[in-house]
Amino acid sequence: KEFWQEKQLLAGKKILVTAGPTRERIDPVRYLSNFSSGKMGYAIVQEAIKMGADVTLVTGPTDLQVPSGAKVVRVESAQDMLEAVLSRYPDMDVVIKTAAVADYRPKTVHSEKMKKRAGELVLELERTTDILKTLGEKKEQQLLIGFAAETVDVAYYAQQKLETKNLDMIVANDVKAEGAGFGTDTNIVTMYKQSGDVIPLPLLSKAEVAHRILEEVQLLLEGTL
Ligand code: CTP
Ligand code: CA
Repeated sequence: KEFWQEKQLLAGKKILVTAGPTRERIDPVRYLSNFSSGKMGYAIVQEAIKMGADVTLVTGPTDLQVPSGAKVVRVESAQDMLEAVLSRYPDMDVVIKTAAVADYRPKTVHSEKMKKRAGELVLELERTTDILKTLGEKKEQQLLIGFAAETVDVAYYAQQKLETKNLDMIVANDVKAEGAGFGTDTNIVTMYKQSGDVIPLPLLSKAEVAHRILEEVQLLLEGTL
């Protein structure tokens, strides 16, 4: 192949990537969130653009610059992200969900700043919607790629999520491993495919991990033609 063909392996493919954390409001000045930096998702956006894809990024709050050429939708909460993703889903060839979506949100959002009082405070939380599981239930032509952030029994939980969310592939990382996880510029992941293939990757930059993931996506897309 010519070099320019190599670079356009995803030409014309519509890819939606979610990235970053979500924020779940407690009151006008406080929220619940997590340590996601958004780097893995933004790296995928960057690589997918290089490979010729038409990329939409749905992102929670991060400090990162959006790669040029991507369409961007900025969201705050899990509910916002759900709505942003669902409305664009029918049109997509591929959805890659790197976002660290909050599993719980405060049951009541106070409209005024909460004042401190003597004694303990108990916050009541309710479950957010599992966006990826919802997409899995509605899946038609789309390839659905999930991420799994684990600290123990990585393979077991990753494969469980692959099945229960009806994914084509899940990318698992041990967020406690050295050189992996939140905030770092490198990652160590294993890809588990619906077919049963298991592809472990060594310690790589997030850009390189993104490239390897997208090469698998390209193979999966070829398989669906
Ligand atoms: N995810 C999602 N919506 C949620 C929670 C998670 O779309 N409300 C997605 C994430 O974007 C990720 C995948 O589900 O692609 C796995 O997220 P993870 O937190 O590892 O798994 P959970 O299913 O939330 O289970 P748990 O946190 O209990 O391990
Ligand atoms: Ca979770």
